[in-house]
Amino acid sequence: MDRELSRRHLLKLAAAGAGAAALSPRLVQRAWAQELPPLPKKDTYTVGFCQTGSNNPWRLAETKSMQDEAAKRGYKLIATDANEDTAKQIADVASVIAQRPDILIFPPRESGPLAPSVLQAKQAGIPVILIDRDVEHDVAMPGRDYITFIGSDFVDQGRRAAEWLIGATGGNARIIELEGTTGADPAIDRKQGFDELILGGSFKGTPVATPVAGMQILASQTGNFTRNEGRQVMETLLQAHPDVTAVYAHNDEMAIGAIAALEAAGRKPGQDVILVSIDGENDAIQAIVDGKLGATVESSPFFGPIAFDTMLKYANGEDLPDWVVVVDRFFDKSNAAEFVGKQY
Ligand code: AHR
Repeated sequence: MDRELSRRHLLKLAAAGAGAAALSPRLVQRAWAQELPPLPKKDTYTVGFCQTGSNNPWRLAETKSMQDEAAKRGYKLIATDANEDTAKQIADVASVIAQRPDILIFPPRESGPLAPSVLQAKQAGIPVILIDRDVEHDVAMPGRDYITFIGSDFVDQGRRAAEWLIGATGGNARIIELEGTTGADPAIDRKQGFDELILGGSFKGTPVATPVAGMQILASQTGNFTRNEGRQVMETLLQAHPDVTAVYAHNDEMAIGAIAALEAAGRKPGQDVILVSIDGENDAIQAIVDGKLGATVESSPFFGPIAFDTMLKYANGEDLPDWVVVVDRFFDKSNAAEFVGKQY
């Protein structure tokens, strides 16, 4: 662990006003020196859950999964909603820590700014499980500062989307990429996985993928994981790049927004522009059946059961991996009909 690098990183965050101001390097060092906070075996638990927002069906499904599972088990959930504001989520975590839950389980909106919040919980003696999104490991490490990260392999999701698109277009496409929230784990990783397969890439000097000669990324811009911004960004990019033949959206909501923009411009999504995205929500499954969306890589929001099972394993003293990988399915025209209305 490069402690000097981590300290610099924290100072950078503080300078950016990203909420790390309350966290001194001394606090970081004290947190490092401690074991993970214990979780006693009990009949019931009070669980802090700090959601990033409620601005799309995926987020609502994740929150519902946590609420339903807590109710089923008779646990108390202290829930907050940051309205997609990173500074608010940092404040929410601090306020939940002050309410002394037995454990904090949450998805950090951005991987850098929320990492110090994990250390604050540890310093307060409250164990943390991260779900859905992870934090930067040069600041907070699973197994040392928090119990574990439970979530999908976002890089692999991006690769699977690229593989499908290469196949569906015969390796010839001019692509617009709609990115998720800047600084969010899934936006960074889904871009990396997709772009590497399309443009070629290397890992520690060794090529991991060769570029696909006929595939070109015309533009890549954030649509903030929302339908509305996906539509607006697509409208603008469509004017600059009318020769687009494919869209890769980091989530279904932006893909559905892009479909609306394409139709408004007289284009035929699914025919002259091929779309692929990630999540597996109901509207996307329907769009596949309707022939407008080509495919979507699942990213499951149903964290309640796995999060609380993992919590109990920790309370029982079981060994846990640093990353509990969520395995995702894939939906395209071969299977979408059987999932219509069955998702979220
Ligand atoms: O972190 C998971 C992503 O966040 C989902 O793909 C997206 O829809 C959500 O906002």
